[in-house]
Amino acid sequence: MTTSSTLWQPFALSRVKLPHRLAMAPMTRSRALPDGTPTELMAEYYGQRAGLGLIITEGAQPSPDGQGYLNTPGMYTAEHVEGWRKVADAVHAGDGALFVQLMHVGRMSHPDNTPHHRQPVAPSAIGAEQDMFTASGMQKTAVPRELATEELAGVVGEFRHAAAQAVAAGADGVEIHAANGYLLHQFLSPNANRRADGYGGSVAERSRFVVEVAAAVAEEIGADRVGIRISPGFPLGGIDEGDAEAVRAQYRHLVGELAPLNLAYLHVHHLGDDELLRSLREAWPTALLVLRYGRAREELAEYVDSGLADIAPVGRWALANPDLVVRLRTGAELNEVDPDTLYGGAAGYTDYPALDRA
Ligand SMILES: Cc1cc2nc3c(=O)[nH]c(=O)nc-3n(C[C@H](O)[C@H](O)[C@H](O)COP(=O)(O)O)c2cc1C
Repeated sequence: MTTSSTLWQPFALSRVKLPHRLAMAPMTRSRALPDGTPTELMAEYYGQRAGLGLIITEGAQPSPDGQGYLNTPGMYTAEHVEGWRKVADAVHAGDGALFVQLMHVGRMSHPDNTPHHRQPVAPSAIGAEQDMFTASGMQKTAVPRELATEELAGVVGEFRHAAAQAVAAGADGVEIHAANGYLLHQFLSPNANRRADGYGGSVAERSRFVVEVAAAVAEEIGADRVGIRISPGFPLGGIDEGDAEAVRAQYRHLVGELAPLNLAYLHVHHLGDDELLRSLREAWPTALLVLRYGRAREELAEYVDSGLADIAPVGRWALANPDLVVRLRTGAELNEVDPDTLYGGAAGYTDYPALDRA
């Protein structure tokens, strides 16, 4: 991208002032303590990347039920808040802004990976049938039990509580994870949601739980502290949302329902249906973050430059390059991601070299 690209212009994202249009996309790294408490090392990792401006963290579970993978951070105990405070301080020390992603995995889990070892919960008792890493090796995700209608308010309450905890820890906001095959995406998807209680069936009924979570979290901490991530049509975790028209109908409805909440931002993990994206842009009143799956480095600014997006979040390049902003500005080479050290362990986390050491 050229130096005149909109990518290098500042942006006001609700109450946060950003120096450019890049951001760090949420990435699970499985380096929290077994009880979900974030560590000093996590603070160092996020602090190293504060130059990206908006730091969206890895998914944090709002409750034991919300956990799917080993050593992911939680946001439901006092210890979690203390750990996250170190992360917030480190990001703020580097002039970054911190949004903690709230991720409830729903059926993308295994009892071996949660503190209470219970059967996972989901909109319907339909397994994701995915391979999942556990302490005893790869296992299939468990068949979940269907959440009773009376339990749904409790799950909304978990999101509410986690959002309040994030703010107490010093975060600038939270991102609600409604993408990539996890609980909220399971509610949206007809092949994972067969409910007949008003939370499944039509496009509107499948959207209802996501809208309730977003409204509750916005009420709890203020809409200007809340973002939400969606991934229209993304078939991760056994999700099948049907053909392009079905996906458009689902997400136009959902975004239409979310728009009046005036959240801080909408974050689209974008598979490439630009017609859908244009309509979401028109319907959405505030900032739009677009991460187009599979884009090349030269294409990073395309949606920001064409006006279809305000911010272009980056995942793996940010993981492997603590000084990514400098490298992109100067056209320097990028460190490659080591796929073997993505999750857990000391190596491949805070030791990716910056340019002066590269
Ligand atoms: C190691 C890893 C962990 C991820 N964890 C999350 C996550 O916790 N929440 C989420 O919304 N997306 C997650 N993602 C998806 C990324 O946010 C991003 O959408 C994806 O990596 C594509 O962007 P990229 O090509 O810039 O890496 C993860 C991706 C990677 C590589």
